[in-house]
Amino acid sequence: MNRYKIEGGNRLKGSIDVHGAKNAALPILAASVINSGKSVIHNCPDLSDIQNTIKILELLGCSVTREANTVIVDSSNLCLRSIPKDIMVKTRSSTMFAGALASRCKKAYIAGHGGCCIGSRPIDIHLEAFREMGMDIKEDSGEVMCFASKMKPCTVNLRFPSVGATENIMIAASLTEGKTTIINAAREPEIQNLADFLRSMGVKIKGDGTGVISVWGTSCPKDAEVTVIPDRIVASTYMCASMATKSPLVINNVNVRHLSGFIATIRKMGVSVICLKNSLSIFPPDRMINVPYISTAPYPGFPTDSQALISSVMCTSQGLGIIRESIFENRFGHCHELLKMGADIETKNGFACIRGVKKLSGAIMNSHDLRCGAALCVAALGADGISYISNVNYIDRGYENLCQSLKNLGAKIERIE
Ligand code: EPZ
Repeated sequence: MNRYKIEGGNRLKGSIDVHGAKNAALPILAASVINSGKSVIHNCPDLSDIQNTIKILELLGCSVTREANTVIVDSSNLCLRSIPKDIMVKTRSSTMFAGALASRCKKAYIAGHGGCCIGSRPIDIHLEAFREMGMDIKEDSGEVMCFASKMKPCTVNLRFPSVGATENIMIAASLTEGKTTIINAAREPEIQNLADFLRSMGVKIKGDGTGVISVWGTSCPKDAEVTVIPDRIVASTYMCASMATKSPLVINNVNVRHLSGFIATIRKMGVSVICLKNSLSIFPPDRMINVPYISTAPYPGFPTDSQALISSVMCTSQGLGIIRESIFENRFGHCHELLKMGADIETKNGFACIRGVKKLSGAIMNSHDLRCGAALCVAALGADGISYISNVNYIDRGYENLCQSLKNLGAKIERIE
């Protein structure tokens, strides 16, 4: 059951609840190994990436239980052992365990960098910071050993505000007495969610959400508890489905502040968005107008994870729109597939030039990665005719039952062989 069949051209109707953020829950789950005790994680989404990370926790000797949307981890009996490479490379979060295990066990092993194939996904920024923090790093053909018996508080300067590296450093510094400062830190909301989790453990953290984060580690971490923030990328996905099908929708369980960059862009396309405290209503016009230029950027800029999604909407919006992917070097896989639907797209050197056409037509397509798959669903919902999308297991990594959620809104979609 790894394909979607979508019959396009149907209006959607109603409201949808957004689940917890994958990219917040993953580093929080990894960090749950450092307190040698209990961590209660509320609003934790049930996704294949999360299930894989829970499998890593269990392989490390932790006990993990789920009660509805709450996951409880007990890391008292953690025992360091190398994790099978096929499991480690399934998600980017396996890199996240390095900081956590180095912090708790003074040793960590990274088998592979993992994550979607949207670029080379190096971890040099992580390792450079780890060395600054006193770790001895041994690299051998893509495998990394970190020895952390002499961790020290320090100031690390990131050459790029890497989300994963910022999270890894925060976690690695959490058991190191003294002040560790991260300059040019990532500002994403998921970083602040991780900081809230670490603070509940007794770690003192200041500056999360800004470019300078300071961490004062603790020698006696406590049981911890946190609520995962809503997934801003899933919210943007449903907003794109609304735009592609010209259907007003209500989207619940959102933090509208986390969507500010995205909302600002779609308002320029002629979409009306009414924001309430934890929800929003979206009213797309019959035909949107392409914004001349959009560039993805670190938060609070336009999110790279929404780039494929908005590209699908731009294909049937009026005029020429240029979108620049400035974060990952290989994140236009969806454009190749959208051409099969009759889109007018040219990609070159990290830019996609999209000329809006009246309508797309259904086609047989392939999901290259998580957000590509979701973007093809958005395009298929608004197209004339029937589309087939393969490799939808990618979509399962970041969306809780997308097929049923869209069906509940009136989409003609089913999951087939
Ligand atoms: C996180 O990936 C997210 N994944 C990504 O979401 C998201 O696109 C990305 O942040 C940017 O917002 C998770 O949180 C699990 P980065 P991460 O380190 O941490 C380069 C999704 O669809 N870089 O900020 O890997 C890197 O190659 C996924 O949910 C280095 O060069 O992102 C990329 O070009 C996809 N060296 C850029 O920085 C390093 O050591 C951004 O990477 C680290 C990163």
